[in-house]
Amino acid sequence: MFKIGVMASGGGSNFKAIIDRIGEGDLEAQCKFLITNNGGCGAVSHAESYGIPVYHISGKTHPDTAAYEAALLEVIDRYDIDLLILAGYMKALPVSIIKRLPDRILNIHPSLLPKYGGKGFFGIHVHEAVIAAHDTESGPTVHLVSEEIDQGRILAQTKVPVLEGDTPEVLAARVLVQEHALYWKTIRDYAKSIL
Ligand code: GRF
Repeated sequence: MFKIGVMASGGGSNFKAIIDRIGEGDLEAQCKFLITNNGGCGAVSHAESYGIPVYHISGKTHPDTAAYEAALLEVIDRYDIDLLILAGYMKALPVSIIKRLPDRILNIHPSLLPKYGGKGFFGIHVHEAVIAAHDTESGPTVHLVSEEIDQGRILAQTKVPVLEGDTPEVLAARVLVQEHALYWKTIRDYAKSIL
């Protein structure tokens, strides 16, 4: 059984898409936990409806940085996961976590990295930048997480057209649909490659 843990901060549509695909059974996998830094987010509601344990660990619950990192590590170690999946986790991961799971942490980013990655490129800002640059294509990237934000090895990308008259919100929605398909497929293929 392949064990994953997920970290998310927002609506959780990628998290839900992953859980739904696990249920379809083309990889024998289990999601052991959701860690969030935002106790009221949509991802928490999805976890609760699927009976997945939720751990709210944030600067609020753990104001001391060392205690915050220790709490994250405790959950991650307790479940002995094979992969940690970042699905809209809006906080930089502590280096101690990245070092604990080398080549075992995946992230999804809503641009064709290396374009529009790194500091300041998150959420709607990514799509605003794509439109401002008059790019004709965009799309999600799944990559391994390294210490440099959005610079880990790229595992997969899907190209999505940028259409005349697109607003950042319309483009974001078009990219998000492709994220849902790409993330699971990449997790499954990567899991099989490391089994
Ligand atoms: C996605 O656009 C993802 O690329 C980015 O954060 C967003 C999360 O969306 N890292 P959701 O919470 O999965 O709906």
